[in-house]
Amino acid sequence: MASLESPVFRFLLFVSLVLLVGSAGFVRFLESRAGAVSPATARLFTWLHRLGAGLLIAVSLLDVGFTARRALGEINPYLYFAYLTRTWNGQWVILRVIIALGLLWLSLRPRVDWQTLIGRHAALLERTVFVVLSIVAAVTVSMTSHAGSRGELWPIISDLVHLLAMLTWVGSVFFTVLFTFREPRDGVNVLERVSTVALVSVGAIALTGAFSSLVRLWHPALLTITNYGQTWVFKLTLVAAVLALAGINRFMWMPLLRRIPSRLPRFQRVMRLEAVLLTVVLMATSALTSTAPPEQGAGLKRSVSFKQSKNGYTLEGVASPTPLGGARLEFTLTDAKAAPLPDDVRVEGIFDMSSHGMGPLTLNLERLGAGRFAGDGFFGQTGDFDAVIKIPQAEWRVVLPSR
Ligand code: HEM
Repeated sequence: MASLESPVFRFLLFVSLVLLVGSAGFVRFLESRAGAVSPATARLFTWLHRLGAGLLIAVSLLDVGFTARRALGEINPYLYFAYLTRTWNGQWVILRVIIALGLLWLSLRPRVDWQTLIGRHAALLERTVFVVLSIVAAVTVSMTSHAGSRGELWPIISDLVHLLAMLTWVGSVFFTVLFTFREPRDGVNVLERVSTVALVSVGAIALTGAFSSLVRLWHPALLTITNYGQTWVFKLTLVAAVLALAGINRFMWMPLLRRIPSRLPRFQRVMRLEAVLLTVVLMATSALTSTAPPEQGAGLKRSVSFKQSKNGYTLEGVASPTPLGGARLEFTLTDAKAAPLPDDVRVEGIFDMSSHGMGPLTLNLERLGAGRFAGDGFFGQTGDFDAVIKIPQAEWRVVLPSR
């Protein structure tokens, strides 16, 4: 099971990317006419960009430390360094730190006099370097996502486009809210561009999000029976709310602002709600990306009969495979006199998946008749697991081979 810190680290990772890439991207592409930027806004954006770089480096390095401690049981500088340099996750973190430093260097107005070196192409070169570094930063995140850690090419590409489109949309909304325009008319012009960019990004997010969803949630029932599916439904509900708000902003506010630009500051306050909702979507996504998605081909492979006695009580029954990957148990419980277990005795059942580092899954048992029970559960990971049946007087463990 994902540890508690994983979603927090993932969320901070997304936030730091928005700060680092979004702030600089907004100034470079959406509001590039330097004259329209007030000095205070320019300073704020520079500091947010630096904060993003610092946060990205700190969160990535700390995440490696926590992951290494979880995997190895302890941590010291030698183990940390070994984990950083020898694991898939660690190696992408090294590249991410280098890229964050590169983006920081770019924003610190390097001493190299681009203008003298390459004349009027300086701005183009600077923008190209910025875009390439930003894409590589996103690649380092996608390569450590569910798709990346499984090495699946198309899901990785889809995840990368999803992430870049997210950065574009969230960045343009956040930084429009924070921007102080000298003239409302300038602001409305910027908003026209923000609105078009947001529309294209939302299209890309929807297409790639739908593709990743079909890969991860390969059967509709998974939406309700897995933690991953339930978290996905929660995220999509939030996405629907934010899309409704974005639609109102585009189709009702934009025509109004074209006619009355002086309403811009009020609109920026309205946009704060969209920014807050997008932050909550990012929180839900952090939970989604830290929850193990259901694997195809998991679960019990053949029916297993079992009979075990403990403290005079006997458990006897059969476990059979279920279509999606899991098992259904049907069993009887009898006491020392071979009589059915009385109705007032509490019976519990779980799938124990601790060998996979996952928490137990509760079986929803129903009483079929005197001492007869049935219950099933979905087991989302490939590998063996145990069914554990408990009554106050005894506990049985049935090994369920799933290979
Ligand atoms: C049409 C709506 C959307 C769908 C169907 C969707 C679906 C998904 C899916 C299935 C994943 C893969 C999770 C995994 O790795 O297991 C994902 C990742 C992600 N989504 Fe969405 N999403 C949608 C909209 C959004 C929006 C609006 C945002 C942000 C504002 C967003 C941000 C992200 C981020 C940051 C990731 C993680 C990328 C990574 O870690 O590499 N998504 N999404």
